[in-house]
Amino acid sequence: MTEMRADAVVIGSGPGGYVCGIRLGQLGVKTVVVEREQPGGVCLNVGCIPSKALIHAAKTYDKMTRSAGEMGILVTSPPSVDMKKMQSWKGGIVSKLTSGVRQLLKAAGTELVFGSAVIERGGSDGHHVAVAAQGEKRVITAKNVVLATGSRPIVIPGFDIDQKRVIDSTGALDLDSVPQRLVVIGGGYIGLELGTVYAKLGSKVTVLEALDSILYGMDKDCVKVVAQKLRKMGVEVMLGAKAKRWENHKDRAVVTAAGKDGEVTIDADRILVSVGRRPNSENIGLDKVGVKLDGKGFVVVDNQLRTNVPGIYAIGDVAGGMLLAHKASKEAEVVAEVIAGHKAAMDVRTIPAVVFTDPEVAVTGMTEEQATEAGHKLKVGKFPFAALGRAMSVNDTDGFVKVIGDAETGELLGVHVVGNGASDMISEAALAIEMGAVLQDLQLTIHPHPTLPEAMMEAAAAARGEAIHIVNR
Ligand code: NAI
Repeated sequence: MTEMRADAVVIGSGPGGYVCGIRLGQLGVKTVVVEREQPGGVCLNVGCIPSKALIHAAKTYDKMTRSAGEMGILVTSPPSVDMKKMQSWKGGIVSKLTSGVRQLLKAAGTELVFGSAVIERGGSDGHHVAVAAQGEKRVITAKNVVLATGSRPIVIPGFDIDQKRVIDSTGALDLDSVPQRLVVIGGGYIGLELGTVYAKLGSKVTVLEALDSILYGMDKDCVKVVAQKLRKMGVEVMLGAKAKRWENHKDRAVVTAAGKDGEVTIDADRILVSVGRRPNSENIGLDKVGVKLDGKGFVVVDNQLRTNVPGIYAIGDVAGGMLLAHKASKEAEVVAEVIAGHKAAMDVRTIPAVVFTDPEVAVTGMTEEQATEAGHKLKVGKFPFAALGRAMSVNDTDGFVKVIGDAETGELLGVHVVGNGASDMISEAALAIEMGAVLQDLQLTIHPHPTLPEAMMEAAAAARGEAIHIVNR
């Protein structure tokens, strides 16, 4: 057994853990980051980055097969998909980014150690974190421990993941052929993003969603646009349909779902289970040191990311809230500052979220329902991309920008964008909300022409009855 001393140990190197390791290093805190798999966590290895690569590839293929002709580009022999090549292109992006993480940690003076970490005990000299790797054990003693262990997919009874017939997002990002028939269980972020990829690449996709809406909780008008486009792509969405069991037949799987009118069966080559994620808070010694968890197993933290045990912090998915990479990275920077003795706390007005469907949905701030519930009277403005020159010139006019403001003060409360390019537009709205902007601030800011964000300016103007390129109501 080897022993090490550090000021801080970060367990996990996803977008929470590695950012925390870099920032702690920059702040002069001697830090060790422990990772049991690859640096970069789910986000870089089997989540955000590889999925966005496949989404882009599928979009390119879809444009060639469906809409290039409208623009006078004639694809004279049908394009085909080489899934193995697509996967290896995707793999190249992942390895570039994960090796970048190693270099950045090193440059910050932070050590990256591989192995499974368990907090063994606390003591007057600090917390003892045991790291086991290939039969070897080392113990790192540090005053501060940051839990950044992330989350994993929820498994539903009867659908054990074998990565053959029944796959999770990791399996779906690694297929070397396009399944003819794909059944997706769960119409949330993952199910719809990956369902769209395979629908575009040629699969017959059926989405089973237990609730009465896909993308539950998101702006209803935005969801309608996504649902319409899914229909257009030939994706069948079954609402109020709960996946119950499946049987393996020689040439196919048969999935049974309980729907509104009784049970239905659907044939599938692959079944993607995407019904949410749960925290990785077990088997890391939290029970031994008495770290408090909530009813769902998420670590309970305050606004400085402190758990109930002094010196132990938690960030990212394991600490609950929105399970988003950028939320983890922000918490990582805050906790590093806290550990370095600076005055810092999570004090954000909004965490934007993007679903990379076709069209994309990007949101920040409150929905109309949330704002009304919070006691606001609303001014709502909407501007369709169909009325925007830039959207027409890129041949993608589905969707709109919706801006929600307080009717009395004009305070900007929420922005909801559905449309391709939404992901790159939402940061402006997040900045505006963070700065306490009013509708007029968005309206009066000159937006370059011709660009998609002009729709944001026009939607803010529409909320005040002053839009230029649509008729005001
Ligand atoms: P999710 O929570 O977004 O959606 C899961 C859906 O499955 C829900 O609508 C639920 O009603 C449904 N469901 C549950 N059990 C079911 C059953 N037996 N039959 C049919 N439907 C059932 O979860 P998802 O898609 O797995 O994503 C997990 C998390 O990962 C998300 O909460 C999101 O925060 C994050 N994520 C973020 C992305 C992004 O930022 N673009 C992309 C992918 C994931």
